Amino acid sequence: MPFTTLILAAGAGTRMKSERAKVAHTLLGKPMIRWVVDAAAAATGLAAGSVAAANPSDQRTDATQIITVIGHQREQVEPLVPDTTLVVQEERLGTGHAVMMARSKLLELPADASLVVLNGDTPLITAATISALAAARAEDAAAATVLTFKLDDPTNYGRIIRDPADKVLRIVEEKDATPEERACKECNSGAYCFELSALLAQLDKLSNDNAQGEYYLTDVIGLYVAEGLTVTAHIVDAEEVQGINSRVQLALASKALQRRINKEHMEAGVTMLDPELVWVEPGVEIENDVELLPLTFLGGATRVGSGSVLGPNTRVTDSTIGRGCHIVETEIVGALLEDNVACGPRAYLRPGTVMKAGSKAGTHVEIKNSTVGSNSKVPHLSYIGDATLGSDVNIGAGTITCNYDGISKNPTTIGDRAFIGSATMLIAPVTVGADAVTGAGSAIAKDVPESALALERNKQTTIENWKERQ
Ligand code: UD1
Ligand code: CA
Repeated sequence: MPFTTLILAAGAGTRMKSERAKVAHTLLGKPMIRWVVDAAAAATGLAAGSVAAANPSDQRTDATQIITVIGHQREQVEPLVPDTTLVVQEERLGTGHAVMMARSKLLELPADASLVVLNGDTPLITAATISALAAARAEDAAAATVLTFKLDDPTNYGRIIRDPADKVLRIVEEKDATPEERACKECNSGAYCFELSALLAQLDKLSNDNAQGEYYLTDVIGLYVAEGLTVTAHIVDAEEVQGINSRVQLALASKALQRRINKEHMEAGVTMLDPELVWVEPGVEIENDVELLPLTFLGGATRVGSGSVLGPNTRVTDSTIGRGCHIVETEIVGALLEDNVACGPRAYLRPGTVMKAGSKAGTHVEIKNSTVGSNSKVPHLSYIGDATLGSDVNIGAGTITCNYDGISKNPTTIGDRAFIGSATMLIAPVTVGADAVTGAGSAIAKDVPESALALERNKQTTIENWKERQ
Protein backbone atom coordinates (compact mmCIF):
# COMPACT_ATOMS: atom_id res chain seq x y z
CA MET A 1 0.00 0.00 0.00
CA PRO A 2 1.38 3.44 -0.88
CA PHE A 3 2.62 5.76 1.84
CA THR A 4 4.45 9.04 2.22
CA THR A 5 7.63 9.09 4.31
CA LEU A 6 8.65 11.88 6.65
CA ILE A 7 12.27 11.74 7.83
CA LEU A 8 13.24 13.77 10.90
CA ALA A 9 16.78 15.07 10.54
CA ALA A 10 16.85 18.55 12.04
CA GLY A 11 18.42 17.66 15.39
CA ALA A 12 21.84 18.81 16.55
CA GLY A 13 23.58 15.51 17.29
CA THR A 14 25.64 17.07 20.11
CA ARG A 15 27.00 13.74 21.29
CA MET A 16 28.89 13.26 18.00
CA LYS A 17 31.16 16.17 19.06
CA SER A 18 31.54 17.11 15.41
CA GLU A 19 31.58 20.05 13.03
CA ARG A 20 29.74 17.76 10.67
CA ALA A 21 25.97 17.29 10.86
CA LYS A 22 25.18 13.96 12.52
CA VAL A 23 23.20 12.58 9.59
CA ALA A 24 26.02 13.57 7.19
CA HIS A 25 28.45 11.18 8.90
CA THR A 26 29.06 8.21 6.64
CA LEU A 27 28.67 4.48 7.13
CA LEU A 28 30.57 2.50 4.49
CA GLY A 29 31.00 5.63 2.41
CA LYS A 30 27.30 6.54 2.39
CA PRO A 31 25.87 9.39 4.50
CA MET A 32 23.65 8.26 7.39
CA ILE A 33 20.60 10.11 6.03
CA ARG A 34 21.03 8.43 2.61
CA TRP A 35 20.72 4.98 4.16
CA VAL A 36 17.35 6.02 5.55
CA VAL A 37 16.18 7.79 2.35
CA ASP A 38 17.25 4.87 0.15
CA ALA A 39 15.49 2.35 2.41
CA ALA A 40 12.32 4.45 2.33
CA ALA A 41 12.57 4.87 -1.46
CA ALA A 42 13.02 1.14 -1.92
CA ALA A 43 10.10 0.45 0.42
CA THR A 44 7.80 2.71 -1.55
CA GLY A 45 8.84 0.91 -4.69
CA LEU A 46 10.82 3.81 -6.06
CA ALA A 47 14.34 3.18 -7.25
CA ALA A 48 16.81 4.89 -4.95
CA GLY A 49 17.70 8.35 -6.16
CA SER A 50 14.96 8.47 -8.76
CA VAL A 51 12.43 10.40 -6.71
CA ALA A 52 13.62 13.76 -7.96
CA ALA A 53 11.34 15.50 -10.38
CA ALA A 54 12.61 18.15 -12.75
CA ASN A 55 10.23 20.58 -11.15
CA PRO A 56 9.87 19.83 -7.42
CA SER A 57 6.29 21.08 -7.45
CA ASP A 58 5.41 18.24 -9.83
CA GLN A 59 5.86 15.66 -7.11
CA ARG A 60 4.14 17.47 -4.26
CA THR A 61 0.98 15.47 -4.30
CA ASP A 62 2.78 12.25 -5.03
CA ALA A 63 1.50 9.94 -2.31
CA THR A 64 4.85 8.13 -2.20
CA GLN A 65 7.13 11.12 -1.85
CA ILE A 66 9.78 11.48 0.83
CA ILE A 67 9.82 14.62 2.94
CA THR A 68 12.92 15.46 4.99
CA VAL A 69 12.85 17.86 7.94
CA ILE A 70 16.20 19.62 8.14
CA GLY A 71 17.45 22.36 10.46
CA HIS A 72 20.70 22.15 12.32
CA GLN A 73 23.65 22.41 9.85
CA ARG A 74 21.10 22.15 7.10
CA GLU A 75 23.53 23.45 4.47
CA GLN A 76 25.36 20.15 4.94
CA VAL A 77 22.27 17.96 4.91
CA GLU A 78 20.36 19.58 2.05
CA PRO A 79 22.77 18.53 -0.75
CA LEU A 80 22.58 14.93 0.45
CA VAL A 81 18.83 14.61 -0.14
CA PRO A 82 18.08 16.41 -3.43
CA ASP A 83 15.51 13.76 -4.27
CA THR A 84 13.30 14.55 -1.29
CA THR A 85 10.96 17.41 -0.46
CA LEU A 86 12.61 19.64 2.13
CA VAL A 87 11.02 21.23 5.15
CA VAL A 88 13.05 23.50 7.41
CA GLN A 89 12.64 23.45 11.17
CA GLU A 90 14.28 26.71 12.26
CA GLU A 91 14.07 26.06 16.00
CA ARG A 92 14.54 22.54 17.33
CA LEU A 93 11.62 22.24 19.71
CA GLY A 94 11.26 18.47 19.54
CA THR A 95 10.20 15.64 17.25
CA GLY A 96 6.52 16.65 17.46
CA HIS A 97 7.46 20.19 16.49
CA ALA A 98 9.47 18.83 13.55
CA VAL A 99 6.33 17.12 12.22
CA MET A 100 4.32 20.34 12.76
CA MET A 101 6.79 22.12 10.47
CA ALA A 102 5.81 19.74 7.69
CA ARG A 103 2.11 20.42 8.15
CA SER A 104 1.63 22.46 4.98
CA LYS A 105 3.29 19.75 2.89
CA LEU A 106 1.24 17.04 4.63
CA LEU A 107 -2.00 18.95 3.96
CA GLU A 108 -1.30 18.61 0.23
CA LEU A 109 -1.55 14.83 0.56
CA PRO A 110 -4.79 12.89 0.15
CA ALA A 111 -6.77 12.89 3.43
CA ASP A 112 -6.65 9.08 3.69
CA ALA A 113 -2.86 8.97 3.11
CA SER A 114 -0.63 6.79 5.19
CA LEU A 115 2.44 8.52 6.69
CA VAL A 116 5.57 6.69 7.78
CA VAL A 117 7.79 8.74 10.11
CA LEU A 118 11.45 7.76 10.42
CA ASN A 119 14.38 9.16 12.37
CA GLY A 120 17.28 10.30 10.21
CA ASP A 121 19.70 8.70 12.67
CA THR A 122 18.62 5.05 12.29
CA PRO A 123 20.54 3.98 9.15
CA LEU A 124 20.14 0.24 9.74
CA ILE A 125 16.43 0.24 9.06
CA THR A 126 15.60 -1.85 5.99
CA ALA A 127 13.09 -1.36 3.21
CA ALA A 128 11.49 -4.66 4.25
CA THR A 129 10.89 -3.37 7.79
CA ILE A 130 9.45 -0.06 6.57
CA SER A 131 7.07 -1.94 4.25
CA ALA A 132 6.16 -4.34 7.05
CA LEU A 133 5.40 -1.39 9.36
CA ALA A 134 3.01 0.14 6.81
CA ALA A 135 1.46 -3.27 6.15
CA ALA A 136 1.03 -3.89 9.89
CA ARG A 137 -0.96 -0.68 10.32
CA ALA A 138 -3.23 -1.63 7.44
CA GLU A 139 -3.67 -5.17 8.77
CA ASP A 140 -4.38 -3.99 12.32
CA ALA A 141 -6.75 -1.32 10.96
CA ALA A 142 -4.89 0.95 13.39
CA ALA A 143 -4.73 4.74 13.41
CA ALA A 144 -1.07 4.39 14.33
CA THR A 145 1.46 1.56 14.49
CA VAL A 146 4.73 2.05 16.36
CA LEU A 147 7.86 0.15 15.41
CA THR A 148 9.27 -1.19 18.66
CA PHE A 149 12.10 -3.43 19.84
CA LYS A 150 13.30 -4.99 23.07
CA LEU A 151 16.63 -4.36 24.77
CA ASP A 152 18.08 -5.68 28.01
CA ASP A 153 19.43 -2.20 28.59
CA PRO A 154 16.83 0.21 27.18
CA THR A 155 18.51 3.31 28.65
CA ASN A 156 17.79 6.54 26.73
CA TYR A 157 14.99 5.12 24.59
CA GLY A 158 11.33 5.98 25.00
CA ARG A 159 9.43 3.08 26.59
CA ILE A 160 6.23 1.48 25.29
CA ILE A 161 3.65 1.40 28.07
CA ARG A 162 0.94 -1.25 27.65
CA ASP A 163 -2.19 -2.05 29.64
CA PRO A 164 -2.73 -5.43 31.35
CA ALA A 165 -4.32 -6.71 28.14
CA ASP A 166 -1.08 -5.78 26.32
CA LYS A 167 -2.65 -2.91 24.38
CA VAL A 168 -0.34 0.03 23.68
CA LEU A 169 -1.29 2.96 25.92
CA ARG A 170 1.43 5.55 25.42
CA ILE A 171 5.14 6.16 25.06
CA VAL A 172 7.13 7.67 27.90
CA GLU A 173 10.56 9.22 27.44
CA GLU A 174 13.38 8.03 29.69
CA LYS A 175 13.67 11.44 31.35
CA ASP A 176 9.95 11.56 32.17
CA ALA A 177 9.58 7.93 33.20
CA THR A 178 8.92 6.58 36.69
CA PRO A 179 11.28 3.86 37.95
CA GLU A 180 8.62 1.22 37.11
CA GLU A 181 8.23 2.60 33.58
CA ARG A 182 12.00 2.64 33.13
CA ALA A 183 12.09 -1.09 33.96
CA CYS A 184 10.09 -1.73 30.77
CA LYS A 185 12.33 -3.21 28.10
CA GLU A 186 10.19 -2.48 25.06
CA CYS A 187 11.55 0.61 23.31
CA ASN A 188 10.26 3.11 20.79
CA SER A 189 12.35 2.97 17.59
CA GLY A 190 11.22 6.43 16.52
CA ALA A 191 9.56 4.91 13.44
CA TYR A 192 5.78 4.96 13.10
CA CYS A 193 3.07 4.60 10.53
CA PHE A 194 0.16 7.03 10.99
CA GLU A 195 -3.13 7.57 9.37
CA LEU A 196 -2.42 11.13 8.25
CA SER A 197 -5.74 12.79 9.09
CA ALA A 198 -5.69 11.50 12.68
CA LEU A 199 -2.09 12.64 13.12
CA LEU A 200 -2.79 16.16 11.86
CA ALA A 201 -5.71 16.38 14.30
CA GLN A 202 -3.49 15.45 17.28
CA LEU A 203 -0.46 17.61 16.49
CA ASP A 204 -2.09 20.80 17.85
CA LYS A 205 -2.73 19.14 21.16
CA LEU A 206 0.94 18.41 21.92
CA SER A 207 2.42 20.33 24.82
CA ASN A 208 6.00 20.82 25.89
CA ASP A 209 5.27 20.33 29.55
CA ASN A 210 7.87 17.60 30.12
CA ALA A 211 11.42 17.06 31.39
CA GLN A 212 13.00 18.32 28.17
CA GLY A 213 10.57 21.17 27.44
CA GLU A 214 10.04 19.71 23.95
CA TYR A 215 7.04 18.85 21.81
CA TYR A 216 7.35 15.07 21.71
CA LEU A 217 5.94 13.22 18.72
CA THR A 218 5.70 10.25 21.07
CA ASP A 219 2.88 11.98 22.96
CA VAL A 220 0.49 11.62 20.03
CA ILE A 221 0.26 7.90 20.85
CA GLY A 222 -1.32 8.60 24.26
CA LEU A 223 -3.60 11.20 22.63
CA TYR A 224 -4.77 8.66 20.03
CA VAL A 225 -5.58 6.14 22.76
CA ALA A 226 -7.43 8.79 24.81
CA GLU A 227 -9.64 9.37 21.77
CA GLY A 228 -10.39 5.69 21.46
CA LEU A 229 -8.28 5.23 18.32
CA THR A 230 -6.44 1.95 17.82
CA VAL A 231 -2.67 1.96 18.29
CA THR A 232 -0.59 -1.17 17.73
CA ALA A 233 3.08 -2.05 17.90
CA HIS A 234 5.17 -3.89 15.34
CA ILE A 235 8.13 -5.48 17.10
CA VAL A 236 11.42 -5.93 15.22
CA ASP A 237 14.94 -7.07 15.97
CA ALA A 238 16.85 -4.44 17.93
CA GLU A 239 19.78 -4.17 15.55
CA GLU A 240 17.84 -2.51 12.75
CA VAL A 241 16.49 0.35 14.78
CA GLN A 242 19.43 1.37 16.92
CA GLY A 243 19.71 5.15 16.85
CA ILE A 244 23.11 6.69 16.31
CA ASN A 245 23.98 9.40 18.78
CA SER A 246 27.73 8.90 19.27
CA ARG A 247 30.85 7.80 17.41
CA VAL A 248 30.78 4.51 19.28
CA GLN A 249 27.28 3.81 17.97
CA LEU A 250 28.40 4.94 14.50
CA ALA A 251 31.18 2.32 14.53
CA LEU A 252 28.80 -0.39 15.76
CA ALA A 253 26.28 0.43 13.04
CA SER A 254 29.01 0.42 10.38
CA LYS A 255 30.01 -3.01 11.62
CA ALA A 256 26.43 -4.24 11.34
CA LEU A 257 26.17 -2.89 7.77
CA GLN A 258 29.52 -4.48 6.89
CA ARG A 259 28.20 -7.86 8.04
CA ARG A 260 24.93 -7.41 6.19
CA ILE A 261 26.67 -6.48 2.91
CA ASN A 262 29.34 -9.17 3.19
CA LYS A 263 26.73 -11.82 3.91
CA GLU A 264 24.88 -10.88 0.71
CA HIS A 265 28.09 -11.12 -1.34
CA MET A 266 29.07 -14.45 0.21
CA GLU A 267 25.60 -15.80 -0.49
CA ALA A 268 26.07 -14.66 -4.10
CA GLY A 269 29.30 -16.65 -4.40
CA VAL A 270 32.10 -14.39 -3.17
CA THR A 271 34.77 -15.97 -0.92
CA MET A 272 36.04 -14.03 2.09
CA LEU A 273 38.78 -15.54 4.23
CA ASP A 274 37.78 -13.27 7.10
CA PRO A 275 34.63 -11.23 6.41
CA GLU A 276 35.24 -9.13 9.51
CA LEU A 277 38.26 -7.66 7.73
CA VAL A 278 36.68 -6.97 4.35
CA TRP A 279 34.81 -3.71 3.78
CA VAL A 280 32.57 -3.39 0.74
CA GLU A 281 30.56 -0.24 0.23
CA PRO A 282 26.98 -0.43 -0.99
CA GLY A 283 26.77 -0.18 -4.77
CA VAL A 284 29.93 -2.22 -5.37
CA GLU A 285 29.26 -5.09 -7.78
CA ILE A 286 31.15 -8.35 -7.34
CA GLU A 287 30.74 -11.39 -9.58
CA ASN A 288 30.82 -14.91 -8.19
CA ASP A 289 34.08 -16.75 -7.47
CA VAL A 290 35.87 -13.57 -6.52
CA GLU A 291 38.12 -14.01 -3.48
CA LEU A 292 38.60 -11.13 -1.07
CA LEU A 293 41.49 -11.43 1.37
CA PRO A 294 41.77 -9.54 4.66
CA LEU A 295 42.03 -5.75 4.69
CA THR A 296 40.43 -5.34 1.29
CA PHE A 297 38.31 -2.19 0.91
CA LEU A 298 36.06 -1.83 -2.14
CA GLY A 299 34.35 1.51 -2.53
CA GLY A 300 32.46 3.87 -4.79
CA ALA A 301 31.35 2.70 -8.21
CA THR A 302 33.54 -0.40 -8.31
CA ARG A 303 32.97 -3.67 -10.15
CA VAL A 304 35.01 -6.85 -9.79
CA GLY A 305 34.87 -9.68 -12.33
CA SER A 306 34.65 -13.37 -11.62
CA GLY A 307 37.74 -15.29 -10.56
CA SER A 308 39.69 -12.25 -9.40
CA VAL A 309 41.62 -12.39 -6.13
CA LEU A 310 42.03 -9.12 -4.23
CA GLY A 311 44.15 -8.49 -1.15
CA PRO A 312 45.47 -8.71 1.36
CA ASN A 313 45.73 -5.02 2.14
CA THR A 314 44.12 -3.59 -0.99
CA ARG A 315 41.83 -0.64 -1.61
CA VAL A 316 39.86 -0.21 -4.84
CA THR A 317 37.73 2.91 -5.40
CA ASP A 318 35.60 3.86 -8.42
CA SER A 319 37.30 1.26 -10.59
CA THR A 320 36.48 -1.70 -12.78
CA ILE A 321 38.45 -4.90 -12.26
CA GLY A 322 38.05 -7.55 -14.95
CA ARG A 323 37.95 -11.29 -14.56
CA GLY A 324 40.86 -13.39 -13.33
CA CYS A 325 42.86 -10.46 -11.97
CA HIS A 326 45.34 -10.79 -9.09
CA ILE A 327 45.60 -7.64 -7.00
CA VAL A 328 47.96 -7.79 -4.03
CA GLU A 329 48.58 -4.92 -1.57
CA THR A 330 47.51 -2.32 -4.06
CA GLU A 331 45.68 1.01 -4.13
CA ILE A 332 43.51 1.53 -7.23
CA VAL A 333 41.49 4.70 -7.85
CA GLY A 334 39.51 5.54 -10.98
CA ALA A 335 41.14 2.81 -13.09
CA LEU A 336 39.97 0.22 -15.58
CA LEU A 337 41.56 -3.21 -15.49
CA GLU A 338 40.67 -5.71 -18.18
CA ASP A 339 40.86 -9.47 -17.60
CA ASN A 340 43.86 -11.31 -16.13
CA VAL A 341 45.72 -8.21 -14.95
CA ALA A 342 48.26 -8.55 -12.13
CA CYS A 343 49.00 -5.75 -9.67
CA GLY A 344 51.35 -5.43 -6.73
CA PRO A 345 52.53 -6.08 -4.20
CA ARG A 346 52.47 -2.36 -3.45
CA ALA A 347 51.30 -0.87 -6.74
CA TYR A 348 49.40 2.40 -6.98
CA LEU A 349 47.06 2.87 -9.95
CA ARG A 350 45.67 6.39 -10.16
CA PRO A 351 42.78 7.90 -12.16
CA GLY A 352 42.83 7.37 -15.89
CA THR A 353 44.86 4.17 -15.77
CA VAL A 354 43.79 1.49 -18.24
CA MET A 355 45.43 -1.91 -17.89
CA LYS A 356 44.64 -4.00 -20.95
CA ALA A 357 44.17 -7.77 -20.73
CA GLY A 358 47.09 -9.73 -19.29
CA SER A 359 49.13 -6.66 -18.36
CA LYS A 360 51.05 -6.20 -15.14
CA ALA A 361 51.85 -3.38 -12.71
CA GLY A 362 54.30 -4.88 -10.25
CA THR A 363 56.07 -3.92 -7.07
CA HIS A 364 56.36 -0.24 -6.18
CA VAL A 365 54.87 0.81 -9.49
CA GLU A 366 52.79 3.98 -9.85
CA ILE A 367 50.69 4.51 -12.97
CA LYS A 368 48.57 7.58 -13.77
CA ASN A 369 46.47 8.59 -16.77
CA SER A 370 48.08 5.92 -18.93
CA THR A 371 47.19 2.90 -20.97
CA VAL A 372 49.27 -0.24 -20.58
CA GLY A 373 48.66 -2.47 -23.61
CA SER A 374 47.75 -6.12 -23.51
CA ASN A 375 50.40 -8.42 -22.04
CA SER A 376 52.70 -5.45 -21.37
CA LYS A 377 54.62 -5.54 -18.12
CA VAL A 378 55.72 -2.79 -15.76
CA PRO A 379 57.14 -5.13 -13.14
CA HIS A 380 59.35 -3.13 -10.77
CA LEU A 381 59.91 0.36 -9.31
CA SER A 382 58.45 2.51 -12.08
CA TYR A 383 56.43 5.68 -12.54
CA ILE A 384 54.31 5.72 -15.71
CA GLY A 385 52.34 8.94 -16.24
CA ASP A 386 50.50 10.30 -19.29
CA ALA A 387 51.80 7.39 -21.34
CA THR A 388 50.42 5.02 -23.94
CA LEU A 389 52.06 1.63 -24.10
CA GLY A 390 51.30 -0.79 -26.92
CA SER A 391 51.03 -4.52 -26.41
CA ASP A 392 53.83 -6.88 -25.29
CA VAL A 393 55.96 -3.99 -24.08
CA ASN A 394 58.51 -4.68 -21.35
CA ILE A 395 59.45 -1.84 -19.06
CA GLY A 396 62.76 -2.45 -17.26
CA ALA A 397 63.07 -1.99 -13.51
CA GLY A 398 63.28 1.59 -12.34
CA THR A 399 62.09 3.15 -15.61
CA ILE A 400 60.34 6.47 -15.25
CA THR A 401 58.35 8.67 -17.61
CA CYS A 402 59.51 12.22 -16.95
CA ASN A 403 56.12 13.62 -17.87
CA TYR A 404 56.35 16.97 -16.14
CA ASP A 405 58.79 19.64 -17.26
CA GLY A 406 57.83 22.02 -14.49
CA ILE A 407 55.21 23.76 -16.63
CA SER A 408 53.11 21.16 -18.37
CA LYS A 409 52.46 17.45 -18.51
CA ASN A 410 53.75 15.75 -21.67
CA PRO A 411 52.90 12.41 -23.25
CA THR A 412 55.05 9.34 -23.77
CA THR A 413 54.18 6.78 -26.45
CA ILE A 414 55.73 3.34 -26.62
CA GLY A 415 55.05 0.99 -29.54
CA ASP A 416 54.24 -2.73 -29.49
CA ARG A 417 56.98 -5.10 -28.31
CA ALA A 418 59.35 -2.27 -27.38
CA PHE A 419 61.92 -3.23 -24.75
CA ILE A 420 62.74 -0.41 -22.38
CA GLY A 421 66.02 -1.05 -20.56
CA SER A 422 66.17 -0.76 -16.80
CA ALA A 423 66.32 2.75 -15.33
CA THR A 424 65.47 4.47 -18.61
CA MET A 425 64.34 8.08 -18.14
CA LEU A 426 61.74 8.75 -20.85
CA ILE A 427 61.79 12.55 -21.14
CA ALA A 428 58.39 13.48 -22.51
CA PRO A 429 57.13 14.34 -25.01
CA VAL A 430 58.79 11.32 -26.54
CA THR A 431 57.90 8.34 -28.70
CA VAL A 432 59.60 4.96 -28.78
CA GLY A 433 58.66 2.98 -31.89
CA ALA A 434 57.47 -0.60 -32.09
CA ASP A 435 60.18 -3.24 -31.53
CA ALA A 436 62.66 -0.55 -30.44
CA VAL A 437 65.08 -1.03 -27.53
CA THR A 438 66.52 1.51 -25.11
CA GLY A 439 69.76 0.83 -23.27
CA ALA A 440 69.67 0.53 -19.49
CA GLY A 441 70.32 3.81 -17.73
CA SER A 442 69.56 5.99 -20.79
CA ALA A 443 67.83 9.35 -20.64
CA ILE A 444 65.74 9.29 -23.83
CA ALA A 445 64.66 12.76 -24.91
CA LYS A 446 64.47 12.18 -28.68
CA ASP A 447 62.06 9.90 -30.50
CA VAL A 448 63.32 6.40 -31.17
CA PRO A 449 62.33 4.90 -34.55
CA GLU A 450 60.86 1.43 -34.94
CA SER A 451 63.27 -1.46 -34.35
CA ALA A 452 66.14 0.90 -33.36
CA LEU A 453 68.39 0.71 -30.31
CA ALA A 454 68.73 4.02 -28.47
CA LEU A 455 71.59 4.44 -26.01
CA GLU A 456 72.34 7.58 -24.06
CA ARG A 457 75.08 7.14 -21.52
CA ASN A 458 78.74 7.94 -21.02
CA LYS A 459 81.46 5.47 -21.90
CA GLN A 460 82.47 3.52 -18.83
CA THR A 461 85.87 4.38 -17.34
CA THR A 462 87.62 1.40 -15.76
CA ILE A 463 90.83 1.84 -13.80
CA GLU A 464 92.75 -1.40 -13.37
CA ASN A 465 94.23 -2.39 -10.01
CA TRP A 466 92.51 0.47 -8.23
CA LYS A 467 92.68 -1.26 -4.90
CA GLU A 468 96.52 -1.64 -5.03
CA ARG A 469 97.04 1.94 -6.18
CA GLN A 470 95.15 3.16 -3.14
C1 UD1 B 1 13.50 9.69 20.02
C2 UD1 B 1 12.14 9.35 20.66
C3 UD1 B 1 12.33 8.13 21.56
C4 UD1 B 1 12.91 6.99 20.76
C5 UD1 B 1 14.19 7.40 20.04
C6 UD1 B 1 14.64 6.31 19.09
C7 UD1 B 1 10.91 11.44 20.93
C8 UD1 B 1 10.46 12.48 21.89
N1 UD1 B 1 11.66 10.45 21.42
O1 UD1 B 1 14.35 10.05 21.09
O2 UD1 B 1 11.10 7.74 22.11
O3 UD1 B 1 13.15 5.88 21.62
O4 UD1 B 1 13.98 8.60 19.28
O5 UD1 B 1 15.89 6.59 18.56
O6 UD1 B 1 10.56 11.50 19.77
N2 UD1 B 1 14.68 15.88 15.45
C9 UD1 B 1 14.24 16.92 14.70
N3 UD1 B 1 13.83 18.06 15.30
C10 UD1 B 1 13.84 18.21 16.64
C11 UD1 B 1 14.31 17.12 17.43
C12 UD1 B 1 14.72 15.97 16.79
O7 UD1 B 1 14.20 16.85 13.46
O8 UD1 B 1 13.46 19.28 17.13
C13 UD1 B 1 15.13 14.64 14.76
C14 UD1 B 1 16.59 14.32 15.04
O9 UD1 B 1 17.43 14.86 14.04
C15 UD1 B 1 16.60 12.78 15.00
C16 UD1 B 1 15.18 12.41 15.41
O10 UD1 B 1 14.39 13.56 15.27
O11 UD1 B 1 16.84 12.28 13.71
C17 UD1 B 1 15.15 11.92 16.87
O12 UD1 B 1 15.61 12.96 17.69
P1 UD1 B 1 16.53 12.66 18.94
O13 UD1 B 1 16.80 13.93 19.64
O14 UD1 B 1 17.70 11.84 18.55
O15 UD1 B 1 15.49 11.82 19.81
P2 UD1 B 1 15.82 10.76 20.90
O16 UD1 B 1 16.14 11.44 22.18
O17 UD1 B 1 16.79 9.80 20.38
CA1 CA C 1 18.22 9.63 18.58
